[in-house]
Order: sequence, then structure tokens, then C-alpha cells
Amino acid sequence: MSTPRSADYDAIADRILAQADRLASCSEGPRDITRTFLTPAMADAHGLLSQWMRDAGMTVRCDVIGNLVGTLPADASCAAGQTPRRLLLGSHIDTVRQAGRYDGVLGVLVAIAAAAQIARTARRVSVDVIAFCEEEGVRYRAPFLGSRAIAGSFDLALLSRADDGGVTMAEAIRSFGGDPDRIDDCSYRGETLIGYVEVHIEQGPILELASEPVGLVTSIAGQRRASIRFAGAAGHAGTVPMAVRRDALVAAAEFVLATEELARETTGMVATVGTIEVAPGASNVIPGEARCSLDLRHQHDEIRDRGFAGLRETAERIAGERSLGVTWTDTDRADAVPMDAELTAMIDAAAGGGLPRLASGAGHDAMVMASLCPTSMLFVRCAGGISHNPAEAVLAGDVARALEVVVSMLHRVEEEASIG
Ligand code: GLV
Ligand code: MN
Ligand code: MN
Repeated sequence: MSTPRSADYDAIADRILAQADRLASCSEGPRDITRTFLTPAMADAHGLLSQWMRDAGMTVRCDVIGNLVGTLPADASCAAGQTPRRLLLGSHIDTVRQAGRYDGVLGVLVAIAAAAQIARTARRVSVDVIAFCEEEGVRYRAPFLGSRAIAGSFDLALLSRADDGGVTMAEAIRSFGGDPDRIDDCSYRGETLIGYVEVHIEQGPILELASEPVGLVTSIAGQRRASIRFAGAAGHAGTVPMAVRRDALVAAAEFVLATEELARETTGMVATVGTIEVAPGASNVIPGEARCSLDLRHQHDEIRDRGFAGLRETAERIAGERSLGVTWTDTDRADAVPMDAELTAMIDAAAGGGLPRLASGAGHDAMVMASLCPTSMLFVRCAGGISHNPAEAVLAGDVARALEVVVSMLHRVEEEASIG
């Protein structure tokens, strides 16, 4: 049975958009939205979100890596004598540099608003809303740090990795009030979990082209990331003849073009070199060093892996032809992940049926959470499919529909818990 659409959802959606506007001001700079892992901007966001979680009837805690968790506990009388089952909702609150205001944040705000709708009803099921502290991988060039801690798959070796300012992850966690020696405490392994459901803007054009406000995700494409460093010889821009130069940036440029060519030639592949740093970095100095990133994705892991291995060989060939050194470092790998068919079907049924299905090219915390419990995602249409861009936009009516779907699902979960 789906919950009838109430005009309240439109008013709440307006409030969610206003909250997203307020979170947008929690930024590392005044002119754009940049909120990376464990920065003062993230602490500011925690301040706002904690208040909104409490207003929604939740108790709030920050775990030792920096995930903010709001809990709506199961009603004591319903839970007597049995361990309450737990449903997890959420998304991430870190951003890329110069981000839009909805990537990640929207899912957290919809989850809080949905929890508020059931806060005053008797509950057999506990609901946790998790604002993951790190999904984008900006500060430490490693994504999904928050969800990996929750899923019990956090790689402790990352704790010694330094950011661009030389601050190690362990130091950053301590300065934020966390404890890098107790990351295992974040894990939900061993809990009786019903599942994890994440609302997220689509970040692509499919729903808009189909004139659909929301859709359910079938699977999430895998991704691999690497950091590639070409090492040549710095020299004088006016004196070193072209024939004897060992210019690291030109090698990186050749690599960028080879990457684009591979992805253009391989159906379904997307590849991005999103950062490039040159040293020493002066207009009259031949670049002695160039370091770039690679992000490569495909719905099929074997095609992606073949492309990734091929690009590594390409980087080595380019370096060899130009008498340069090259260091290739794999920085992350996440295989393609299907969403849980049963949980997805339950959400669809709770929402009245007929929600469109689509695949995700973007990565999400849901990829990691799927290793912990049944996981599903609801996408919300976004204007022009634009994301990772300040122009990200959503319609209030679409947010209202997403909220309605999630509230219907929460009611369905309670109904199922009361029978079983
Ligand atoms: C997350 O936004 C990603 O897909 O990189
Ligand atoms: Mn993103
Ligand atoms: Mn996101």
C-alpha cells in the first residue's frame, strides 16, 4: 500500500532545498562549494545536520572516522525481547572541488525528512540516517572512506597517506575528534540489517529524457583510479634544443590523448584525467615532472580492467620513447555492483509500482554498502543531467516525489516487520 501523496511533501521539499542552500555555505572558500573530508567546512555541515536530525526526533553521534549518524530507535515496547532490526538511509556530505549543492547532500536531507515522518509512530525497526564523511576521494585520492569504515572494509594502510598539505589521514581524523586506532568501531558488521537505501541525484540525463521524476537503480558501474608520474629533466626553456628535451608534461599530454582515444573507441567506457600537476611549474622552465590522475569506468569489470592495463602499457611506452621515467600507482578499485533486486522491488511496490529503472555511471556509497547488506538506490532527475558542477539543479516536485517514495518504503518496512 503506498502512502497517499500529501501536499505536505511539497512544503517539506521546499524546506529540503532551503537546507541544501544552507549547507552550500559550509565550504572551504567563500566563492564556491568545496567541502572535503574532515575540514572545518565539514564540521560546520555537521553542526547544521545534527540540529536537523535532532529536530526530526533522532539521537545523533559522530563515529570515529567522521560519519554523522542520526538514529530513530525502535519503540521500546515493540522491541522487548527481540533485537530490533535496523534500516540504513543516507548519502555523503563531502564534495568535489567547485561542486553543486545536491550531489550527496540531497540524499541525506531526504532521509532526515523521511525519518521525521515516522518519528512519532510506534516502530519495530530502528532507522539510522548516515551522512557519510567521504565519498569523492578528493583530499586523500581515495574514495568511499566513510562507507568503507561502516561496511568494515576500510583499508587501514590509508591512514598514513598524506594530503597535499602533508597532513596524514590519521592526523586529520584525530584533529576532527576521531580515533584512527578504532576505525573498526564504525563497522555495522554483525548488526541485523534490513538494508541500505540511498537517494541521490541522477547526475545524468536519462530521467529527464524520459520525463520521469525518480527512478530505481539496477547497478552501479565499477571504476579504477590511478596516479601516474612522468619524470623527465627540468631545463632552460630558451637553451635546451627540442631534440634533446625530456619534457614530462608533453608525455602526460600524449597519455591524456591516448586515454581519450581508448574510451571513445570502447563502447560504454568513460575515462577522465581530472588532475595534472607540473613541477617545477614556471613558464620558462621545461617541466621535469608531471603527475596526473586517471579515472576509468565501465559497466563490465573485465572490459574496464583490460582498458586499465592497456593504458598502463601506453604510459610505459610513451615514457620509454621519450627517455622518461614513469611511476604508476593504483589508487582505487571498485567493481560494478548490482543493486538488491528484492529490496528494489519492495521500494517499487511501496511506491505504487512502475518506477523506471536505470544504471548508474557514477560511483556511490551504495557500492560499498552492498557488501554489508541488501542495498538499493533511488535517483532523482537533475536538470540537464549536470553534476560535479555548480549548475546542479533539481525540481522541488521531484524531491517531494522522492520523499514520498522513501516514506512509503518506511511504512512498508514497518508493515513487514509487524507480520514477520
Ligand atoms: C562520485 O561522484 C564518482 O562517481 O566519482
Ligand atoms: Mn560526486
Ligand atoms: Mn555523490
